[in-house]
Amino acid sequence: MSATPIAAITGLGTAVPPRVVTNAEFEKYLDTSDQWIVERTGIRERRIAAPEQTLASLCREASEKALAQAGLPVEELEAIVLGTVTPDRRLPATACDLQALLGAKRAIAFDIAAACPGWIYSLAVAEGLIAAGRARSVLAIGAEKLSTITDWNDRSTAVLFGDGAGASVVQPAPGDGRGILSIILGTDGKLADLLYIKGGGSADPISAKVVEERSHFIKMAGREVFKAAVHTMAKACEQALAKAGVTSEEVDLLIPHQANLRIIEATAKHAQVPMSKVMVNVDRYGNTSAASIQLAIDQAVQEGRIRRGSLLLLVTFGAGFTWGSAVVRW
Ligand code: ACO
Repeated sequence: MSATPIAAITGLGTAVPPRVVTNAEFEKYLDTSDQWIVERTGIRERRIAAPEQTLASLCREASEKALAQAGLPVEELEAIVLGTVTPDRRLPATACDLQALLGAKRAIAFDIAAACPGWIYSLAVAEGLIAAGRARSVLAIGAEKLSTITDWNDRSTAVLFGDGAGASVVQPAPGDGRGILSIILGTDGKLADLLYIKGGGSADPISAKVVEERSHFIKMAGREVFKAAVHTMAKACEQALAKAGVTSEEVDLLIPHQANLRIIEATAKHAQVPMSKVMVNVDRYGNTSAASIQLAIDQAVQEGRIRRGSLLLLVTFGAGFTWGSAVVRW
C-alpha cells in the first residue's frame, strides 16, 4: 500500500530570464561546437539573466504564480525556504529580500545551500515544518543565477549552465491520497572537491588573487561527476519508490534533474522507466541547478503530461555531493 502524504504541492510557478543564449554563441569565442554540445549534453540553448535581474526578482515572479495557482493570499504564507547556491548577496539570505518583495509579512524566510538538489531539500524542510505543526503554508523554492558563478572562458562548464527559478506552495495534504509520498535525501562530503568553487568564501575571501586565478567560478571534474550522478540517482530512485510503497511500473512520469541528456537516459534505464515516461527539457534551459526539476514539472503540466493524480518520481544530484529523490502524487 502506498504511503499517506502529510503535505502536498498546491501551486507551482516558474520564471526564466528572457535572454536566450544558443550554442552558436559559444562557437564564436570558444573551441567548441553546437554538435559537441548537443551530442555530449543534449543542451541547445539556455536562459541568461541580465545583470540587473536579481535572483529575488526571478523568485518573486515564480512565487506569485505559485501563490495564485494555490489560491493562497500572501499574508497567509508562514515560511519561505529558498534552495540556492547563487544568492544575490552574502547577507542577508535572498529569501528575506523575497519576503519583502512579496509582502509576506508573517513568513519566516531563509536560504539553504544544497546545490542542484536545493529544491528537494527545500521541499523536505517544508514538509517537516508542516509535519511539526510549525507552518501550514510554505513556499519551497529552487532558484539560481548560475551565470554569475560560471567561467565563460572554460568550455568544459560554460556551455552547461543556465538561470531560472521555480516555486511551490506546500500545504497539508488534502486527504485524497495526493501529496508527497516520500522524500530521500543524501550527502557525501568526501567528494566535495569534484564540483566546487574554491575562492570567495570565508576560507579564501574574495581578493585580487582569487579574481586573477578565476577561483571564484565553478570547477568540475565532469567525467567523475557524471558517473557518480548516474549511480547515485539510480539508487535514490529505488529508495524513494520503496519508501512510498509504489513500483517503477506505477510511475507516470520520471522528472530527473536536467543536467545532461546522457545522465537522464542512464538514470531512467537503471530506474526501469522507459524514456517515453521521462520529462526532458535540458535542451531548452541547460542545467539550472536547483530550478531544473520545477521547470520540467511546469512544462510537463502545460503539455498535459502531468494531470491530477499522476504519480511522479523526482530525482536530483549535485555539488556536495548532495542528492535527493521524491515520489509525489500530483
Ligand atoms: N566543447 C568541445 N570539447 C569539449 C568541451 C566543449 N564544450 N568540453 C570538454 N571538451 C573536451 C574535453 O576537453 C575532452 O577533451 P580531451 O579528450 O582532449 O581531453 C573531451 O571533450 C571529453 O571530455 P569529458 O569531460 O570526458 O566529456 P564528457 O563526455 O564527460 O562530457 C560533461 C563532459 C558534459 C561535462 C559531462 O561529463 C557531464 O555532464 N558531467 C556531469 C555534469 C553534472 O551532471 N553536473 C551536475 C551537478 S552541477 C551542479 O551541482 C551545479
